[in-house]
Amino acid sequence: MFLEQVLNDPICQPVAKHYKRWCILMEQNIGFWLRDSVKHTKDHCARVLLLALVIAHQIGLSDEEMEGLSMAAIFHDSRRLDDWLDKGHGKRAAGYYQDYCREHGMPFDKQTYYIMYYHDLDDTIGLAEIAKAFTVGERCTLLYQIFKDADALDRFRLAPDALDVNMLRTEEAHTLVDFAKYLLQKSSDGLSYEIYIF
Ligand SMILES: [Fe+2]
Ligand SMILES: [Fe+2]
Repeated sequence: MFLEQVLNDPICQPVAKHYKRWCILMEQNIGFWLRDSVKHTKDHCARVLLLALVIAHQIGLSDEEMEGLSMAAIFHDSRRLDDWLDKGHGKRAAGYYQDYCREHGMPFDKQTYYIMYYHDLDDTIGLAEIAKAFTVGERCTLLYQIFKDADALDRFRLAPDALDVNMLRTEEAHTLVDFAKYLLQKSSDGLSYEIYIF
């Protein structure tokens, strides 16, 4: 299990059960096209899953919303063709998620599909498409922002200065910057450089 060693941490504890369930599903059932990836591994998706759940818990999202974010996390980089920008990998991942739901008799969630579909594009595009597809009462915009923050918080794996914290969208993500660095240090794929937690 990815990140087993941090699940008793007080920040993780409230979401540990959710995390384990979705992490096991990813490990056992989700196929990643880019098997020799060094940047977009299942370890990366596990950290994004945990970070998204922690933010969601701190905001007070429902179990259903947490499930949507979890699905987005475990599928979102599964259909990459390269480790660079690879615009369109969000759309391919969303398609994989949709097919997976149909083939495995799992309920399909339109919000999860949209989060995944637009996660690799600029916020202005994602938010505009979400605004067109959902009514104001639906919380897809918030879920999209949480998901993109969780994905961004794992950018420290790329370089010590790979995350511009001013770009984070949610207040909760701002408070989790040191925690994101701590997660990386505890990860099995490790780091090729030293990071410092302030
Ligand atoms: Fe991605
Ligand atoms: Fe990602």
